[in-house]
Parts: sequence; C-alpha cells; structure tokens
Amino acid sequence: MFFNKGKSEIEVPKGKVVAFLNQKGGVGKTTMCFNSAHALKDKGHKVLCIDMDPQANLSLLFDVDLSENEGASIHHLMVNSVRELKTLHTSNILSDVLIKGEVDLIPACQDLSGFELTMAPISGPRQLILKRFLEKNDLLNKYDYILLDCPPTLGLLVINSVCAVDGVIVPFRPDDFSKKGLLHFYEMLADVQDMGIVNSPKILAHIPNLVDNRRKQEELDLEEIRQVIIEKLGKDLLLEPFYNRAQLVKSQASKKSVFDYSSKEYRPLHQQFHKIADVIEGLNA
Ligand SMILES: Nc1ncnc2c1ncn2[C@@H]1O[C@H](COP(=O)(O)OP(=O)(O)O)[C@@H](O)[C@H]1O
Ligand SMILES: [Mg+2]
Repeated sequence: MFFNKGKSEIEVPKGKVVAFLNQKGGVGKTTMCFNSAHALKDKGHKVLCIDMDPQANLSLLFDVDLSENEGASIHHLMVNSVRELKTLHTSNILSDVLIKGEVDLIPACQDLSGFELTMAPISGPRQLILKRFLEKNDLLNKYDYILLDCPPTLGLLVINSVCAVDGVIVPFRPDDFSKKGLLHFYEMLADVQDMGIVNSPKILAHIPNLVDNRRKQEELDLEEIRQVIIEKLGKDLLLEPFYNRAQLVKSQASKKSVFDYSSKEYRPLHQQFHKIADVIEGLNA
C-alpha cells in the first residue's frame, strides 16, 4: 500500500502488531497468544511472537529456556537499540536472538524484569523503545502479524507494548476481572492516548476464559461486563467464552499448539482460535 507524501512515495508496512493484555495473571494471555499465532500461521500468514514477560512462559511453550544458557532475549535487543545505553550494549543482534519455526519467536529472559530500571536514565521517550526496535529492524515488512505476550502488570513493558501495537486482545476470567478492572484497563489506554505520542490501539476483542458454565454467577458477571463494553466502546466486543479444556492443558504440556492435533475433540478449539485470527485479520480490512 502506498500513499503520497510530497513527491516521494512511502510504503506503509502491511504487518500488524497485536498484544494480549490484562494486568492480571492466570487469565490466558500466554495460552491465547501462542494458539492465536498458530491459528494465523494455519491461515497462511507469517507470524512472529515476542515474549514481553520476564516469566518467559511463552518462550517455554516454544520450548526455549534462556535461563539454562543465559542466552540473549528481547531485553538485550531493546537495550541495544537505545544509543544512550551504549555502556550496556551487548554483541547480540536480531538474527542471533530470533528463533525460527512454524511461528518465529523473540524470547524473554529474567533480565526483562529490570527493564524499567535499565531504561530509567535515558532522556528519550521510554515508552517507544519497542516500537522503534520493530521499526529499525523492519519487522513490520518481514511479518504479516507480530503478537506480543504481555506481563501481568501495567508497568513500562506493557506501556511499551501498548505504544507498539495496532490492536489489543483482552483475555479475562469473569470471576476476577470485575467491572472495576475493566474500567481501570480502559483508563490506562486513555492515558496512553493522552501522552500524545501515539494513538491508543484498537481494542479488538475481550475473551472470557476458564469459564465455568455451571456457575450462574459467572453468567451474570459476563453479562455485566458485556454491558460495560457496549457502553464504553459502542459495540459488543465479547467473544465466545473458552471453557476449562483438558485439550489446552495437554497440548501445552507437550509444548504444542492445538493445531498440532487433528482429533475431533480439538476441533472446537481450532474454531475458537480461528475466530481470534479472523478478528486480528480484521485490522487489515
Ligand atoms: N481454557 C483453558 N482451559 C484449561 N486451562 C487453561 C485455559 N486457559 C488457560 N489455561 C491454563 O491456565 C494457566 C494460566 O494461563 P496463561 O495463559 O499462562 O495465563 P496468563 O498468561 O494470563 O498468566 C496455564 O497453566 C494454562 O495452561
Ligand atoms: Mg502469561
């Protein structure tokens, strides 16, 4: 896609970046990120995942454990991309760190937990380090979709993720993602918009996860959340709930996506993750 800027033509990268976000842990961010990435791959796209969580759970799903060999991660790549941090630079370049596979991965490591402190002394905008790293490495031209798995905080790593993405997907558990949690989350996105340096990303979907359909209260909580979403965003962006699925637990224990299994009990999960992939593809519409 091209648009005119004076006489020169500037190419708009076609790749889109999406983050799986929720300030709570255990809601399914990593699970959704991993399987949605494979759903996009299944639909023929070139996909990169970036693990933004120092706990590195996504990297473990890719069977990558940097704690064993102290390898380099997204942390080192981001540090190396900031000129002011020259004294902390390491020799790692993208091609050393990128792990190629059906879906590519830039892994996380424990060092990422020091990201906020490491970036404290810099004078440039600390919120844009990830965005600039993606741009400098031309990753939006190399991949159709880049999916970020975020840590369960609202700290600088998440702010960097929010500033780098086109869209966000919010997995949540109806029991603990109360109306208050949702409103708090929207405020954080509004704060990003108020910083005036990037537009806040589009909210693509909310995904109720680990829903127990035997609990009446969850149905009521979900309905309340649906009303808040409609009131605040003007449309119903609630996807069909994910129930507690042994197939997800089993596939993760084998470090596989649900698309590695073709038996019939996996089909509803294929459909649900394809639906998330459809929503992500909607960014290109
Ligand atoms: N729908 C589901 N059914 C069964 N287990 C799930 C489901 N979603 C997530 N889990 C499990 O719950 C745990 C937390 O999920 P995870 O994706 O790591 O959450 P988060 O990244 O938000 O902390 C993991 O052990 C994962 O395997
Ligand atoms: Mg996680």
